[in-house]
Order: sequence, then C-alpha cells, then structure tokens
Amino acid sequence: MDLELKLLPAEKRRPVPELKNLVFGRLFTDHMFVMEYDCERRWHAARIEPYAPISLDPAAIVLHYAQTIFEGLKAYWGVDGRIRLFRPWENMQRLNRGAERMCMPRVDEEFVLSAIKKLVWIDRAWIPREKGAALYIRPFMFGTEPSLGVKPSHTYLFMVILSPVSSYYQEGFNPVKIYVTDEFVRAAPGGTGEVKAGGNYAASLKAAEVAKKKGYTQVLWLDAVERRYVEEVGTMNIFFYFDDELVTPALSGSILPGITRDSVLQLARHWGLRVSERRISIDEVIEGIETGRLRECFGTGTAAVISPVGALYYRGKEYLINQGQTGPLAQKLFDELTAIQYGEKEDPFGWVTLVEG
Ligand code: COI
Repeated sequence: MDLELKLLPAEKRRPVPELKNLVFGRLFTDHMFVMEYDCERRWHAARIEPYAPISLDPAAIVLHYAQTIFEGLKAYWGVDGRIRLFRPWENMQRLNRGAERMCMPRVDEEFVLSAIKKLVWIDRAWIPREKGAALYIRPFMFGTEPSLGVKPSHTYLFMVILSPVSSYYQEGFNPVKIYVTDEFVRAAPGGTGEVKAGGNYAASLKAAEVAKKKGYTQVLWLDAVERRYVEEVGTMNIFFYFDDELVTPALSGSILPGITRDSVLQLARHWGLRVSERRISIDEVIEGIETGRLRECFGTGTAAVISPVGALYYRGKEYLINQGQTGPLAQKLFDELTAIQYGEKEDPFGWVTLVEG
C-alpha cells in the first residue's frame, strides 16, 4: 500500500509552543496518519494529513458499542540528537492481538510502523528536548459502520496522533498515592482486560472518581472473582519489592501485558535480582507493609514510565510504603530505562529503533 503525503505548507504549520509543563495528552502536532478499511478494499487510502476533526455517522458502531482499541508508545529526543522509539514492534503485535479480540481487521505491522516513523519525522519539531519529556504516539482503530445492530463493524478508521508530553501524573517522578478498590472491578476472566480496548478505560472511571475524592491519584484493581489478588492500576502495571524478591502479578488474562512491565522484568533478571510473576494477594501486600517486608512498590507503563507508589489506601486505612519516598530500586530502573530511551547508555537488549529521514 502507498502512503500519500498531504502535508501543510511551511507557512501554515503552527509555531511549536514552549514544550514545558505539559499536561498529558492535551497538545497535538500538525499532522496525523489515517487509513480506511472496508471488506472489499481492505486497508486503503493511507495518508499523512493535517491534524483535524473527523466526521462520523452518528450511528457509527464505535459510538454505541465501543468497538475500539488503541496503543501508546513514545518517541524520545536522544542526547545525541537522534530520535528513538522504544520497542515499537511490541506495540504493533499487541495492537493486532487487540484487533483479533475485538473482531477488528489486523493491520500490516511493518507498514504501520513505517507510517509512524514517517509521521514522527515530519512532526519532529514537536518532540520535547528535555529529558523526561517525549512525543507520545497514539495509534487507534475504531468501527465506523452506521449500524445499531450489535455486530462487528464492516468499516474502520485507523489513525495515529502525536502529543508532546512530560510525566503522566502531576506528581512527576514523586511517589503517587493509590486507592485499592474491592468495590469496583476493571476486568474479569474471559473479558478484554488484556487488550487495550477503550471500554476497559471507560469502566475504570467511576472508581477513579471515588479515589480522587479521597485524595488518591489512581486505583489498584483486584481480581474480579475473589477481589483478593492484585491485578494492575489501569494506567500502569504494578510491582512489589519484598525482602529480596521483585514481584508482579502473573498475566492472568485480565491484566494488560505492559511493554514497560516486560522491560523491567528483563532488566531486573539481567541484574540478577530474584524476580517472580505470580499471584499476590492484597493481604500479602498489607502484611508486607506492616512487617517491613515490603521495601518498595512502583508502577510501570509507557505514559507512567516508572512511578513510585508512596501509599496505599485499603478498607478505610492508609498504609505508607518506604515512608512515602521513592525507593532505590524504582530509581535505578527509572534511570536505566530512560538512559536507554534517550541514548545515554548502550541498548544491550535491542529495544530501540531509530527514526530517520
Ligand atoms: C500508556 O501508558 O501508553 C497507556 O496507554 C496508559 C494511558 C491510558 C494513558
């Protein structure tokens, strides 16, 4: 498939604002990638065009039945002036797993990744130069067929938009406080929790509002069946550092297989840490805090990077972790990952892909 370029002439491009104090996902660049799907032509009309609103039929399936998936990755401006993507093939593969789960058409991973690189290159002036900030890349796909019958759409749009971002949480790299809910559930076995379906995030909003009212930044979800085993935070996966064991919940089918999660597992194993992917009950976590066995807790995600957790709220009580401070392991993982992403350190894992003109 060809990629058509319908670019804004230089004089129509917006001056890039100062990329400082960015609120996550509010500012968008000059261009976007779009392609269309129908059953006869399959994916077609691929183009990079000026960022603009789109028009949708009010009966479009996505608006009623949420047939939509997305991805999230970042482009980093390296210390050597080169632009890097971090493990983008993993995003492409996860996107296609999501497409299959949601009865949507697969995309050609190579083609989409090359379109993303092209788009990032075209709008490279929008990549923040500051360490810790990056250009967030949001690929997404949704069903556009006008139909109120509940069925997979026959037509789709696939788009990629770009947003300069700094840290996801207001706290930056400072520890966040997290609310453990045993009232609401994010995802159940057999559901869509392990793919990036838009509906997973809609389902999380109510609990997040409850958490926010109580002064907590995010929600930690427990398993849907027993409301006992820790799953994830929704915007990130979660890790616990007990004594000498780094633990994260095993992928149960209702947890998102995070790419940063996998990178942390690989790094920690590479450093010789004892690492486990297993079930962790909330009781074990609380007991770990009370006995001092739990040294650190942190979240991982593309948007969140490594996000230390300084406190957990569970059943009416707040528990401080590591006196509410960032622990040395979270700090070391953050330093190592970002050093690879910004090209300060060699990339022994082959995680980085360059974007070049
Ligand atoms: C990401 O980290 O890319 C995510 O998808 C989380 C997002 C919902 C902000």
